[in-house]
Amino acid sequence: MTIPKIPYRFSTLATALLTVALTACGSDSDNGGGASSQSSQSSENASSSSTSASSQTSASSEASTSSEASSSSSASSEGPISIEPDFQLSLLADFPVGVAVSAASEPYTIFGNNAQPRRDVIVEHFSQLTAGNIMKMSYLHPEEDRYTFDDADELVNFAQTNGMSVHGHALVWHPDYQVPNFMNGYEGDWEAMLTDHVTTIVNHFGDTVVSWDVVNEAVDTYSSNPSDGWRHSVFYNYEPPAEGEVPPYIEVAFQAAHDAKPELDLYYNDYDNTANADRLAKTLEIADHLDDKGIIDGVGFQMHVYMGYPSLDAFRNAFQEVVDRGLKVKVTELDVAVVNPYGGGEPPPQPDYDMELATAQKVRFCEIAEVYLETVPAELRGGFTVWGLTDDESWLMNQFENATGAEYDDVWPLLFNADLSAKPALQGVADAFNGEPCSAE
Ligand code: G3I
Repeated sequence: MTIPKIPYRFSTLATALLTVALTACGSDSDNGGGASSQSSQSSENASSSSTSASSQTSASSEASTSSEASSSSSASSEGPISIEPDFQLSLLADFPVGVAVSAASEPYTIFGNNAQPRRDVIVEHFSQLTAGNIMKMSYLHPEEDRYTFDDADELVNFAQTNGMSVHGHALVWHPDYQVPNFMNGYEGDWEAMLTDHVTTIVNHFGDTVVSWDVVNEAVDTYSSNPSDGWRHSVFYNYEPPAEGEVPPYIEVAFQAAHDAKPELDLYYNDYDNTANADRLAKTLEIADHLDDKGIIDGVGFQMHVYMGYPSLDAFRNAFQEVVDRGLKVKVTELDVAVVNPYGGGEPPPQPDYDMELATAQKVRFCEIAEVYLETVPAELRGGFTVWGLTDDESWLMNQFENATGAEYDDVWPLLFNADLSAKPALQGVADAFNGEPCSAE
């Protein structure tokens, strides 16, 4: 049985109560928002991101003069820059509005005694959950004859109980630490094994999971050797494709998912397919191949993006390619880091996350959502999902350090502060969903 979302007017009360409770309890961790002692120089990315943001007032004056009826902003050294939304984000959209969550005993799990405030915010603003980790291959299928569904079932039950759907992530994904050991160098009938993997998982969840990333990140245009544009993963190596063909494992996985549950939405999901034409071309090759066979419903765009990059036109063009094929477009993993360590040269220093930057980010989130709505017709909108709830839980700080050596305490990529207060960025998405212009006001 599912419980409908609480009505709009109650949500205002709930938010107010939550705010009071959080204020009374104090913040459980400091995300540094608004109080950073780092360089006050805005990053290149941030300053180049948004035309309207550059003319903003300072943090303190913005905070003290805000008179918007729909939200009030505050920025001071005493706490993060936040708004008090008088809306529930998911109720502003007629497509899934999702968030990736941690579960089981992971850090930032939505379960456990202290997670009630986190759950409350999720239920308040989102209509779909994606498991950030616990529905990946090795979590669900650690050994050939053993599947482990308990943690995922807990997540799916929570979603259902609270009127949310679940997007499954991901049936086939290549990283060593995510691939069950038995799949490495599999010597049996790989096609039967992969079919069993997909079929068993899809059947287990049935209609409680409404859509799946069937294959994640099969494209690799960044390696020059080999250079066929496909990721030479363990799955690719089961049966490398003939020249000009799509790797066979992709079709096997999609066919199995389609055969098990033809009514579910099946996505091919990848990153940088808005930013990089070669990657988009390979993604479309996959989409076309599967579409010819009638076994794909859409393309997932991860969208781990930055303030000024990629351009809005790049998003528009990539979405349009998928729309032109009559396939769904799903934003599956959106985050907008306010600093880009890959921009060339020395990674920029951690910016001061002040009101100007928070407002620029609000505009950026709004513009991304606006491009989505403008480009993708209603019937092809697969959903709009952010990759995590609060800034402090983002994967990006680790990722940036591992990839570049640059250390950032925070890159503020999400819609909520560490203390669970809503950021101006949430208002930005709401503005787009409401059809209002993207504005720094
Ligand atoms: O749960 C353990 C915890 O017990 C332990 O103390 C801690 C210390 O190592 O690790 C925890 O597990 C980590 C897990 O995230 C939960 O936080 C894993 O080590 C870590 O590898 C894992 O990283 C995830 C990564 O995928 C790999 O699965 C990120 O959180 C998750 O955001 C990221 O998500 C991917 C998408 O699936 C695909 N697209 C890119 C995206 C970002 O990399």
